Amino acid sequence: MSSQKIIIDTDPGQDDAIGILLALASPEELDLLGIVTVAGNVPLELTSRNALMLCELAKKPETKVFAGCSRPLVRPLVTAEHVHGKTGLDGADLPDPTTSLQKQHGVDWTIETLLSAEDNSITICCFAPLTNVAMAMIKAPEILPKINRIVMMGGGYFEGGNITPTAEFNIYVDPHAANTVLRCGRPIVMMPLDVTHKALMQRKWLEGLRDLGSAVGDAAYGMMSFYERFDLEKYGSSGGPLHDPTVIAYLLKPELFEGRYVNVEIEIHSELTMGMTVVDWWNVTDRQPNVTYNNQINADGFFQLILDRLSLL
Ligand code: RIB
Ligand code: CA
Repeated sequence: MSSQKIIIDTDPGQDDAIGILLALASPEELDLLGIVTVAGNVPLELTSRNALMLCELAKKPETKVFAGCSRPLVRPLVTAEHVHGKTGLDGADLPDPTTSLQKQHGVDWTIETLLSAEDNSITICCFAPLTNVAMAMIKAPEILPKINRIVMMGGGYFEGGNITPTAEFNIYVDPHAANTVLRCGRPIVMMPLDVTHKALMQRKWLEGLRDLGSAVGDAAYGMMSFYERFDLEKYGSSGGPLHDPTVIAYLLKPELFEGRYVNVEIEIHSELTMGMTVVDWWNVTDRQPNVTYNNQINADGFFQLILDRLSLL
């Protein structure tokens, strides 16, 4: 299978970090053109710094990292230090980055990269609020035919929300951007809470990370151990859900997932349900399907894939 050209849009974030490491560990299948950061879990300067540190941790300092938007399209920025810690990568004691961000704005680089590509040739992997992707589409709609598909972590329906009772964080932070992206007409694959809440980290897996005996394994173990505490307290579950790496796992092994092609719309008017992903799962409206909405995962296969690939770094 020829390698898939991808752009990762991200707000690291410990779970983003595992997704980035998984992508960097899979150069046979994934041609990572660049990473674009956005404000989300923590402010932009931190998500950008974190992305640089992760590429160096993976011994891929040549990876291009671009800073994108510092706030949502319309609403004020909401961050999640209560989950990810002050740095966004609490739990890993990573050295300061020695590499620098690219000079170009992430949205402009995304537009330039897409416009110079073949039609249907680049997959955009979204681990974060969709501000950058929406901004690129608004600024240069001619990029749309270049996008092969958008694979995004976000949303939730049967599971409800994780930042409000009805909204998942990535959508809630920038619901207007999500609304723009979901209406863009290009193929969209969603990894919502309905699937990520079935990917709960087990102690044995975490210990497998530690037993890799590498800088990557140690950092991943530290980050995940810190990161899962919030969800363990909140959900009382047997492990914390691992969200963003599902996007990359879908590119590597789509057979790990199951879902349905349905209509998904975003609430952008009611403050009570702002950012809710309204999923027509039972096809009760005449709204056209626009999203492959995943709700099943082979969790054992997912976690084994991550462990196997991270052992290569
Ligand atoms: O709701 C989970 C999502 O919000 C993940 O992308 C996590 O990193 C946070 O950004
Ligand atoms: Ca994220």
